This record gives sequence, structure tokens and C-alpha cells, in this order.
Amino acid sequence: MDKTKTVYIETYGCQMNVADSEVVLSILSSAGYVRTPELSRADVILVNTCAVRENAEQRVYGRLGDFKFYKKGNPAVIVGVLGCMAERLRKDLMQSESSVDLVIGPDEYRRLPELITNAFEGEKGIAVRLSRVENYDDILPLRTDGLSAWVSVMRGCDKFCTFCVVPFTRGRERSRSLTSVVREVQELAARGFKEVTLLGQNVNSYLDDDGDRDFADLLASVARVDETLRVRFTTSHPQDVSPKLIGTIARHDNICNYIHLPVQSGSDRILRLMNRTYTADHYLRLVETIKKTIPDVSLSTDIIAGFPTETEQDHAMTLELLKAVEYDGAFTFKYSPRENTKAWQMGDDVPEQVKIDRLNQIIDLQREVSNRKNRTLIGSTVEVLVEGESKKSPDDFCGRTDTNRMVVFPKAQTVAGDYAYVRIERANSATLFGSVIARSHKSETRLAANE
Ligand code: SAH
Ligand code: SF4
Ligand code: F3S
Repeated sequence: MDKTKTVYIETYGCQMNVADSEVVLSILSSAGYVRTPELSRADVILVNTCAVRENAEQRVYGRLGDFKFYKKGNPAVIVGVLGCMAERLRKDLMQSESSVDLVIGPDEYRRLPELITNAFEGEKGIAVRLSRVENYDDILPLRTDGLSAWVSVMRGCDKFCTFCVVPFTRGRERSRSLTSVVREVQELAARGFKEVTLLGQNVNSYLDDDGDRDFADLLASVARVDETLRVRFTTSHPQDVSPKLIGTIARHDNICNYIHLPVQSGSDRILRLMNRTYTADHYLRLVETIKKTIPDVSLSTDIIAGFPTETEQDHAMTLELLKAVEYDGAFTFKYSPRENTKAWQMGDDVPEQVKIDRLNQIIDLQREVSNRKNRTLIGSTVEVLVEGESKKSPDDFCGRTDTNRMVVFPKAQTVAGDYAYVRIERANSATLFGSVIARSHKSETRLAANE
């Protein structure tokens, strides 16, 4: 390359995409590219996209419109679409969006340098083959220093929930080796990271390449790297949460007592149509075991409102389940039909307004539950990892508890990266407010280690 080329990347969708963008930047940096946070300085613009719902794709189309306009004034700039939309829409994307030069699916990122070079010479490129083995195990993601890192441990999904595009956009399940994940976490701890989140669409399917170490073993190995490092993970499919996994979370202090355990619906009939492979009753029994084994555990969920044929009665069962579990948080979505999935053939018969009403009822109920649960913490003392300045008030810091609750408190006595004990004085459904009582012994270990 004559002059150092710069790359600008925008990331949409789930944390897997955030992690993948770091892999992409690592590959490009080895090929001599430099990242720029400013669009106006970029030789290459990349958008890492999500296809999970219609509105996720609409957002990206909106952005591609902006880039098209931008390219009119800067015709030499290369625009590339990466990720799940690239995989799902392939050629269509290039045909419908004249400004797009490259379309590259999630398993083809190693080819980026070659395809970008060709694109500079005027050749458009498309690479969307899915792989059964690609896991980018040997590529150290390019991360900016911080407190919290995403570490992808497996790729793909074999569950084929009937509403979901992920098995089509991400391909078959495959895991990284345990040794390489642990090595990466050791490096992160040495660089001062305080929290890692192990990522996969269904982390419970993790299996080391030697075939006998499962996700619980991986979690335990990662937890042993450094006891002051918080270990989180997402996402767990309810069908595969084993007693061994629950026991491992309970046994290790630094594995956070927080499980994201998407239920999707409280109706067995809908769960069957979704191919979720569990019943509401099975799910509730699992939750009971988790709560018994991990006292104070915090749980969150994903819910889809308005899946095909969903009746008021089905919806009422979802509300009942929310009340029974008492989640600490819920991510709620209106059903969005996705072409080529099984549910696509079931039609989309729940009217938009009904979907919206049901969604709002779910949100209102969950807000009430979160509010009530958070208020029970008033007067107690929680340990938080101090993350940095609160977005709403420059005099305050914010941080999260092990159970993933956001806590806001005056800045005195701590710095970002400390663990601190905070006495809770106020609470709403989203945030706890309090004051620092003391720094935790874990921060002192850190200071002593730095001296
Ligand atoms: N692998 C994770 C979730 C991946 S997608 C899991 O199984 O839990 C994140 C969430 O998006 C899903 O849990 C689901 O609630 C939602 N989702 C997926 N496809 C959807 C669709 N077609 N319409 C609406 N929501 C959807
Ligand atoms: Fe999609 Fe189901 Fe796989 Fe999650 S488990 S990614 S919802 S198919
Ligand atoms: Fe979206 Fe792909 Fe993630 S569809 S949710 S970016 S796996």
C-alpha cells in the first residue's frame, strides 16, 4: 500500500457483532490499516450489521443511504457491509444499494484485506460462505483499553428456533479451544481489564476441541485466572442449563450471579411452535433450582410479543410467567417475520396494534417488578465495580453490581476500576442510588499489585 489506509467501522446488533468488529480490526491492522473514529477520515467504511428483526435492517438501510450521499463527494471511499445482513441478503444488497462495494459474511473476515485491495481497483466483492470450523481462534481481537471485554467462545447456532435468522446468518455451532480462551483472558487481566463476558448465541453448547470440557469447565477455568476479574456470560438456552453449570456459578465468587435466560413466551403451545424445546413448567422448575443454588441470583429474559397465532390467553400466560419468575430485567420485542424461517410460513396474523398493546403490558409489568425488587435493596450495602462517570450527572460515578444492577453514587473516594461498597439510599426500576462506604479489599489488592 502506498499510504496508510484508514478504516471506520460501525457496529449494530448483538455483542457477538461487537466482538467480531474487534476481530475485523485486528485482521485489518495486521494488513496495515489504521482505525479511525471519524468517518470523514476513512478510506474504508464498514458496517457490521444485524438481521434479527426488520427494524434492525431498516436502521442499516438508513445508514447506507447516508453513506451513498457521502460517497458522491468522496467517490474513492470503499463501503463494505459485514455481518448478518450481508449473509442474509447477499447479492440483493449490492444490487439494491449502488454505493456498496463489498458484502462479507461473518465467517469470511480473513478475506477482507484481499477484497478491499480489489475494491480499490474497482472490483466489487462478495464473500458469504459459512464455515463449519472458522472460529478466529488465532486472532487476538483489537480492543481499546477499558474495564470490560467481550470474549467470543463459540460461534453459530444449531437450535433453529422457528422465528430466528441466526442459524442461517451465523451457521453451525463451533467452539474455540479452552486453552486459547483462557490465554486471552489472562492477557486481558494483565492489561487491567476487570470484567470479561464470554459470548455465544448458546454458550451452553460450548465444547472444547478435545471434546470433553464443557461450558461449566470453561467458566471455572476463566474464573481461576484472577479472582478480582468478574466473569459474565451470555446467552444461555434454558434447555441446556445443567446442574453442573449452576453449581459452578454458585461455587466461584467472581462468576457473577446473573443469568440471562430467555424464555420468549409463557405459553406451551407457542413455545412448541417456536421450537424452544421446553415447557413453561420445565422452565419454572429450572428457575427454582437456580434460585435455590445461587441465593440472590438475578435473572433476565427475552420475550417476543405477537408470535403467529398468539391469543390473549397465550399472552396472559406470558404475564403470569413474568410474575412467577420475578425477573430483574426483560428485553422485549414485537414479533418480526423473517423470510425463510419456519415461522415465516405461519403468517403474521397478530395485528400490529395488538402486538404493541401486549408489548406495553409486558413492559409495564416488568417495570413494576423491577421497581419493587430494586426498592427492597434500599438500606443494604452492595459491592460495585466502578465504571466511570454517570451519563446523567458529572458529579457522580456509575458502576454495576455482580447481579448487573446499575448503581449511581457521588465520586468521592473511588476511581474507575475500583471495587467499592455502596449503601443504597434510593431506587427506581432501572437504577440504584447511594453513597460509597468503603473501597473493597479487591481494589486494595490491585493498588498493592501496582506499587
Ligand atoms: N441466542 C439468543 C438470542 C439471539 S437473538 C437466545 O437464544 O436467547 C436475541 C433475541 O431476539 C431473542 O432471544 C428473541 O427474543 C429476539 N428475536 C429473535 N428473532 C426475532 C424475531 N423474528 N422477531 C422478534 N424478536 C426476535
Ligand atoms: Fe436464535 Fe434460538 Fe439460536 Fe437463540 S437459540 S440464536 S433464538 S435460533
Ligand atoms: Fe443480529 Fe446477527 Fe447478532 S442477526 S442479534 S447481529 S447474531
